[in-house]
Amino acid sequence: NSVTDEVPGPKRTQNRLEETAQTVFRPRFGFENAPDTDSSLEQNRVWGRDILERSKTTEIGLQALKDNELSSAAQVDELIDSVINASKAWGKKSGAERAEVLRNVGVQIGLNRDKFLEVMAAEAGKTLDQGDTEVSEAIDFANYYALLAEKQEKMDGASPVPVNLTLVIPPWNFPTAIPAGGVLAALAAGSGVIFKPATLTARTGALIAEILWEAGVPRELMRLIKVTDKEAGKKLISSPAVDRLILTGGYETAETFRSWRKDLPLFGETSGKNSIIVTPNADLDLAVKDVVQSAFGHAGQKCSAASTVILVGSVATSKRFHHQLVDAVQSLHVAYPQDIESEMGPVIAPAEGKLLSGLTELDEGEHWVIEPKKLDESGRLWSPGVRAGVKPNSEYHLTEYFGPILGVMTAKTLEEAIELQNATDYGLTAGLHSLDSGELELWLSKVQAGNLYVNRGITGAIVQRQPFGGWKKSTVGSGTKAGGPNYLTALTDWESKESQS
Ligand code: ALA
Repeated sequence: NSVTDEVPGPKRTQNRLEETAQTVFRPRFGFENAPDTDSSLEQNRVWGRDILERSKTTEIGLQALKDNELSSAAQVDELIDSVINASKAWGKKSGAERAEVLRNVGVQIGLNRDKFLEVMAAEAGKTLDQGDTEVSEAIDFANYYALLAEKQEKMDGASPVPVNLTLVIPPWNFPTAIPAGGVLAALAAGSGVIFKPATLTARTGALIAEILWEAGVPRELMRLIKVTDKEAGKKLISSPAVDRLILTGGYETAETFRSWRKDLPLFGETSGKNSIIVTPNADLDLAVKDVVQSAFGHAGQKCSAASTVILVGSVATSKRFHHQLVDAVQSLHVAYPQDIESEMGPVIAPAEGKLLSGLTELDEGEHWVIEPKKLDESGRLWSPGVRAGVKPNSEYHLTEYFGPILGVMTAKTLEEAIELQNATDYGLTAGLHSLDSGELELWLSKVQAGNLYVNRGITGAIVQRQPFGGWKKSTVGSGTKAGGPNYLTALTDWESKESQS
């Protein structure tokens, strides 16, 4: 095969920092009120360095969290009552009025871009480029849900009846975009909100709350909480007063919550085990870039991340593909984000349990193409790993690890590759790299995942264009996709227009 025998010459990306610095800080949709985003490379660097310097001692969010502790079950009723009370007036506002507040929130998030990057670097280890797209996504959510709030009232046949109370429990891996998306969707739909950020990234959550309050969201309507008492948390989640629960987290967490309250009205975006198929008809250069970005962006800690690449036919033996993949992975600069050249930061907490086993143990028949190394004593900073020889239905094939590891599997045909892709319990994202339309059709007719990407990385869904949500155990509850046209519809109750007249 001609592809197999081409000269392998390593294709190192030159001037990676230049590229990063040029794309960093540029909002995705030409956001008008952002600080000077089109400034020179040097200005970007200065701005970035300043943010990272501040991240070393930042106190963002500390006070807000202290002021909003939920430390005993006795506080839960007061909390719920106050939000329900405030939601009455909010629910009566028109969609256009709510939309105005949301758009203002979007503007304020953009103007505070540097603060978000600072606090995410500090508590989540997010590199500037990863944090930056997230801030843009939060702004996209604000503008898109504002639009949906306006549209909602004009629907034929039925009128929205806002619910009183939505509980939002987001994850730590996208501490700005996912919480902002959940909270803003609920507010757009006319509901009051109790927002419990993930413990590991609670300060970023507190910053979101502060910005919402400053932008005109009443404090009583959107309550931030830091739960310091387990019973209080359980009482809140089990309360029949909760009309909707927006959860992004592990499948087991969703199941635990459901065991506490059987009729929990859950919007659960849960676990994933995602892969990209590369066929001999792919643009292999592009495939390498997309696989590496999808596997190692934010150190592999995205629910959407590529954990496995499935090489079809001659790609499995392609020296060129192999060399480029190895070179691209080895050239990633791994460091805490305070090093502005970092392209891959730490994992959120010292690796242990499942993640540690994924980083250090191999199954029968597997070998390290690149072995992950612990880079410091903290247990958080690991170099990226690539394991080959992953067997169908092995531990690695079926388990979500949430870290900087990529497994390589091989298949003789595309059909076989799709079977491997579909074999896991999850179905969040999936990718295909192929320039052949017949292969694309076959794949589309068989693949089982919520978000499908062709000749592109499988992370970074864009609000409105790529509504986000999964199949199988990647979703629990309503199954409605975030950032999509039906999201708000499902967050309200409805009454038919005929019954009103
Ligand atoms: N929405 C995030 C992504 O697509 C999880 O990567």
